Amino acid sequence: MCGIVGYLGSKNVKNILIDGLKELEYRGYDSAGIAVLENENFSLFKATGKLVNLEAKAKDFETSSFSMGIGHTRWATHGKPTELNAHPHVGVQTYIVHNGIIENYQEIKKELQEDGVTFISQTDTEVIVHLYEKKLKTIKDPFEAFKATLTELEGAYALLLITKGENSKIFFAKYGSPMIVGANENGEKFFASSDAPLIGHCEGVNYLNDGDYGYVDSDAITLYNKDHHKKDVSLSSLPTNKLSAQKEGFSFFMEKEIYEQHDVVADTLRGRIKNEKVVFEELADTFFDDINEIKICACGTSYHSALASSYLFERYAKVRTSVEIASEFRYKEPLLLKDTLFVVISQSGETADTLETLKMAKAAGLKTLVICNVDNSSMVRLADASILTRAGIEKSVASTKAFATQMVVLWMLALLNAQQRNSISKEELSKQIKTLLKVPATLVVKDELHEKLKRLSKRYLHGHGFFFIGRDVFFPLALEGALKLKEITYLHAEGYPSGEMKHGPIALADPELFTIALLPTNRLYEKTKSNVEELSARDSTICAISSREYDKADDFIKIEQSDHYMLEFFDMMIVVQLLSMEIAVRLGNDVDMPRNLAKSVTVE
Ligand code: G6P
Repeated sequence: MCGIVGYLGSKNVKNILIDGLKELEYRGYDSAGIAVLENENFSLFKATGKLVNLEAKAKDFETSSFSMGIGHTRWATHGKPTELNAHPHVGVQTYIVHNGIIENYQEIKKELQEDGVTFISQTDTEVIVHLYEKKLKTIKDPFEAFKATLTELEGAYALLLITKGENSKIFFAKYGSPMIVGANENGEKFFASSDAPLIGHCEGVNYLNDGDYGYVDSDAITLYNKDHHKKDVSLSSLPTNKLSAQKEGFSFFMEKEIYEQHDVVADTLRGRIKNEKVVFEELADTFFDDINEIKICACGTSYHSALASSYLFERYAKVRTSVEIASEFRYKEPLLLKDTLFVVISQSGETADTLETLKMAKAAGLKTLVICNVDNSSMVRLADASILTRAGIEKSVASTKAFATQMVVLWMLALLNAQQRNSISKEELSKQIKTLLKVPATLVVKDELHEKLKRLSKRYLHGHGFFFIGRDVFFPLALEGALKLKEITYLHAEGYPSGEMKHGPIALADPELFTIALLPTNRLYEKTKSNVEELSARDSTICAISSREYDKADDFIKIEQSDHYMLEFFDMMIVVQLLSMEIAVRLGNDVDMPRNLAKSVTVE
C-alpha cells in the first residue's frame, strides 16, 4: 500500500506534492520521492524514511512557471526500503510512480534484460518505465506507447507517468489500486490515492474506475475506459474533513482496516500463486531442505495466527510444528535443534520478546524465517529469510488486517511445504489453491452483516464474561476474538477449545456468561455443536456464528455457506472483529487507541 500524488499547474509543484504526500503518509512511509518536469528539465528527489527527509533534500527547490510533477510515499513490497527502490522510477526520459503490484514483472524484466536494459532497483515498478520506453521506440506517439504498455501489465496498478516528449501532459492509469483525479477552474489538475490531499485544491474529482486510463493537461482530463472508449468526465464534490478523509469515510482506522482486508489479502496473494502452485520468490528452492520440524514464536495476535497455522502445517505438510509465546520461550531454556526451521511472526518486526527469540535461534545456528509487515524492521534484517505480508500500515492498535494477511501467508507456506514434500495430492493442492483465491471475496464486508452486528452489540455490554469457543483452527480464532474484545471493550473474555469447557470453565455458565460459538459446518460441526449444547443446557447466553441455522442459540449470526473450513475461518474472523468494535463503540471507548496498550511493544 503506497500513496501517489500528481500535480499540473503554475503553483510551486514541490509544495503541492509534499503536502499531498503528508496526507497519505498513513498509507506507508518507508521512503518517498518526487519528480518534476519544468521547461523540459527534470528534477528528482528521493529519500528513505519519513517525509521530513524528503522535505529536507528538496528544501531549495522551487518551480516558478507552468510545470508538472508526480510523487510517491512507499510501503515496501518488492525490494528493500532503499533510495534506489523509492519511486519515482526513471528510464532515459520518463518518470513513473506506481501503487500496486505487477504480477508478471519477472517475465517482463527478463525480456527487457535480454534487450540490454539495465535495472537499478529491485522493484516490480521499474519494469513499467523501461517497457514504456521500449514501446516508444516503435510507437512514436507517447500516449499510444503508454496504452500499449498497459496492455502488457498484469496485476494491480495506479500509476502516473511523465515523459520529456510530452511536456504538458501527465499520463495516468488505474486498475485494482485506488486513484482520484481532480481539477479546478484555473486549469490545475491533481491526482491522489485518496481524498485527503485534494481537499482545498479541487472543485471536483473523479474516482477512477478499474481499467480507466488517459491524460491530463491544462485544458482537460481525457479519459478512456477499459474498452478504450472515450468517457465524459463527471466531477463530484469532495468531503471537507481531512482526518475523516484519511479514514476514507470510516469512523475509525480499525473499521477501515477491517473493510480493506479483502484488498490487502488480494495484494498478499498477488504473484504468489502460479500454475496452481504456491511460489514465494523470497525463498530459495532449497529453503526447506533438511528441515524436519518447525517452531514458531510470536506475541499477541501474531501468536494466534501462528497457532492456527500449526494445524495447517501438520495437516498438509506433515511436518511437526510447535508454537510458543515469545516471552515464555525466552526463559524456558528451550531445546533448539539444527533441523528445526525457526519462524517468527510479527506485524511490526520490532516486538522485543519475539526479536529476542529470533536472536536465540540464530545463535543456536537454526535456519530462520520471519513473516512480517514491515520491511527493514529489526526482525527482517536479522532473519535468514523474510516474507512480507503486504497489509500496508496498520494504524489501529487492535490488529485486524495484519492477522488476515499473516493467515494467508502461513496457509500458503504450509501448502508450499506440502508441495515440496509431496505430502499433498495434486487434487487436494489444486482444491486448496482455488479456495485460497476465494479468500479476498469472502473478506468483503456485507452491509447486512455489519448492520446486524451493530444491532446485536447492545445485548453484549454487561454480563460477567465472554467465552469464545471453537475447535481446530477455530480455537486460535476464538483466542483472537477474545483478545479483540478485551483490547477495545475492556470486558473480560477468554478463548477456549470448545471440547475443554467441560473440564472446568463450564462451572461459570449462567445467563450472564456470553458464549460466542464458532460453529463451522466444514470442520467438526457435530462435535462443536455438542459442546455448545452443554453450555446452552446450563443457561449460558449463546451467540452462534455458523452458516447452518442453529435453534439452540439466543443469537445467531449467519455466515456464507462454503465448501471449505478456511473460508468459514475468514468469514468468522470478520464477525468477531466487527462485533468487538461495535461493542466498544457502544461503550464509548477509544476504538483505535485503547487504554494501556501500545501498537508496538519494544520493551520486555
Ligand atoms: C502488541 C499489539 C498487538 C500485537 C502484539 C504483537 O501487543 O498491541 O496488537 O499483536 O504487540 O505485535 P507484533 O508487531 O509482533 O505482531
